Amino acid sequence: MNGTGLRAQLFRRKPAAALMAEAESRSGGLKRALGALDLTLLGIGAIVGAGIFVLTGVAAARDAGPAIVVSFVVSGFACAMAALCYAEFAAMIPVAGSAYSYSYATMGELVAWIIGWDLVLEYAVGAATVASGWSGYLAILLKGLGIELPRAWTHAPFSTPGAIMNLPALVIVLLISYVLYIGISESARLNSIIVGLKLFVIGAVIVVGAFFVKPANWSPFAPMGWSGVMRGAGVIFFAYIGFDAVSTAAEEVIDPKRDLPLGILGSLLVCTVLYILVAGVLTGMVPAKGIDITAPLASAFLERGMHAISGLISLGAVAGLTSVLLVLMLGQSRVFFAVSRDGLLPPAFSKIHPKYRTPYIPTTLTGIAVGIAAAFLPIDELGEMTSIGTLFAFVLVCIGVWILRNSEPQLRRPFRTPLVPLVPILGAFFCLYLMASLREATWYRLLVWLGIGLVIYFSYGRFHSRVQNNAVERAAASGR
Ligand code: ALA
Repeated sequence: MNGTGLRAQLFRRKPAAALMAEAESRSGGLKRALGALDLTLLGIGAIVGAGIFVLTGVAAARDAGPAIVVSFVVSGFACAMAALCYAEFAAMIPVAGSAYSYSYATMGELVAWIIGWDLVLEYAVGAATVASGWSGYLAILLKGLGIELPRAWTHAPFSTPGAIMNLPALVIVLLISYVLYIGISESARLNSIIVGLKLFVIGAVIVVGAFFVKPANWSPFAPMGWSGVMRGAGVIFFAYIGFDAVSTAAEEVIDPKRDLPLGILGSLLVCTVLYILVAGVLTGMVPAKGIDITAPLASAFLERGMHAISGLISLGAVAGLTSVLLVLMLGQSRVFFAVSRDGLLPPAFSKIHPKYRTPYIPTTLTGIAVGIAAAFLPIDELGEMTSIGTLFAFVLVCIGVWILRNSEPQLRRPFRTPLVPLVPILGAFFCLYLMASLREATWYRLLVWLGIGLVIYFSYGRFHSRVQNNAVERAAASGR
């Protein structure tokens, strides 16, 4: 292939019409079983997790002080802008690939592949990090009940000397993979039960905690000034990750054009309100410097002798992280499914199980890879990779909405992002700003990760791309 041909391929776009046709095919595809409420619950299932249960305390104690509430507003604002952009795409092109497919329609194959590969950081690496945190919370919960788990079996060997493996992390990942394997309805049902429990726990923290707030604890409000608030916003961004995962379930929704925007925006709105309230209550209960950074919420209640609530919070955290895992792993298998359908990954990844109608091969492989990573690797050090990967995807989705409004203004958009281009520009700007607040090492790791992705693309995807091959066939047929 000559240079012009290569360039044409790298920037070849998959027409939005082709994506829409794929999304509308109702036979032989994934099972359509989800409604607006299921989607909102899936969003909340993915969002409420380690971020609110742990990072709120870390960021308040180290960076923002009581002004962590403002950090939540800043991060929530960036997410709201991105969510409005996701809602437009998701309703217009409701396909499983989410940001990957939207980028294919707007910026071409290479950017799409890069973002598909980048989403592995959000979904699979995110899931492995959460699984490792899950095991930590399980240990706290069981300790409260007088059961001590052996250290050697609850830590990864490459992070803790003398450890053998993080067995609870491996077991939970495999169990969740099994549920995802046997069906989307079963997965959504399990998710709804868990979300009910964690919303109850978060509600209890807010209502009971409010009685113990001492306004004096809110001052000084921002001990580290604006820079502390922004650093805090970068840290707690992790707490908002997940609303976008709703869009990867697009091909399993009964009425995606109506329900996807509701699920994406609804789950984000509910969580933003809860987060701001929890952050206000926590910093009102405990002076910022005295916050326990390993289990901030549970400790705040324990210190006041409320053992039952403290235990309930630990239970809520274990349950909470379980549904985060479920939705992140669901997202990962759907993205692999969509990428494979386009030929950029081997065809096995887009096979659908004849009985369960799930993408069972990527589900299984994701489970094995996430389980091994969580069990053996020092994955908890990589938490920021998930944030940078997600922010990068948000930036491209925001820019993509603007591009497609200009390049294909005639497309039917069941949901329109308001105030284009202001909202996409603000979204991209704030997400870039949050990316800038992350550690340098995280940036290098992102570059290495994307480098590996490019090697895979240039050695496999480029030669198997369906969009490219169809284009070549069409050109040959027309005698050019
Ligand atoms: N938002 C998810 C959490 O906080 C990833 O665990």
